[in-house]
Amino acid sequence: MLKIHNLKVKVKGEEILKGVSLEIPRGETHILLGPNGSGKTTLLKAIMGMGSMHTTGSILLDGEEISGLSIDERARRGVGLALQRSPAIPELTLDSLLQMIGNKFGSDGMEEKIDSLNCRYLLGRGVNENFSGGEMKRSEVLQLLVQEPKVVLVDEPESGVDLENIVVIGEALKRLLKPSVKEKKRAALIITHTGHILNYLNADKGYVLLHGRIICSGNPRDIFEAINRHGFEGCMECEKCN
Ligand SMILES: Nc1ncnc2c1ncn2[C@@H]1O[C@H](COP(=O)(O)OP(=O)(O)OP(=O)(O)O)[C@@H](O)[C@H]1O
Ligand SMILES: [Mg+2]
Repeated sequence: MLKIHNLKVKVKGEEILKGVSLEIPRGETHILLGPNGSGKTTLLKAIMGMGSMHTTGSILLDGEEISGLSIDERARRGVGLALQRSPAIPELTLDSLLQMIGNKFGSDGMEEKIDSLNCRYLLGRGVNENFSGGEMKRSEVLQLLVQEPKVVLVDEPESGVDLENIVVIGEALKRLLKPSVKEKKRAALIITHTGHILNYLNADKGYVLLHGRIICSGNPRDIFEAINRHGFEGCMECEKCN
């Protein structure tokens, strides 16, 4: 469903991604790991078409090249991103934003989705305006739930979130990504440092991004365990990668 080939990204003349290739089949959830500054957020933003960056290589969605398209066209075609740090939009209430997303993408069950992420009391406030870390993440994931994108990109859903709210966010993502038996609708790429989200999702594959390159891929739980034990430094010495 999502196929990235030899993606290189330059920001302000500096090469951040140095030829990333990956493929996420319909119905699969892949996990992206990597130390701070390795280029994880840059990769998700490049897929979404966000920010001023120069990209080469290809990004195929259902076989069609999307890398030249605007951010809104990519969203219309089914790419959705929950950001690591989202900007505040004080002039736009969360309620209005959700209605706009719902109208555009024809999502149903809005009220129940709002309650499932415990966001009802935030509806009248400006998007992210003085939201706490946990409120911001719940609101981001709620927007994804309403958009119901084909390609679900989530940047650190657990960062700054307490344990009870991790359950709320984990269950919401599980609901969005749970492959139904008859119809596997979505592909997902999720960035995590803590790995908590792995308790809620059936992650099919994991990647380690280091200095702008994917240096390892495989079973996400095995990779996560190895990193916990040996750190990302250990990745460089791991014989599986060499
Ligand atoms: N707009 C920009 N201008 C200058 N440098 C940038 C810009 N965007 C990203 N970078 C740099 O690119 C590198 C990768 O950043 P990125 O945000 O992708 O890292 P990350 O892997 O998501 O890290 P973290 O785990 O801390 O979120 C960093 O060194 C960052 O400073
Ligand atoms: Mg990041």
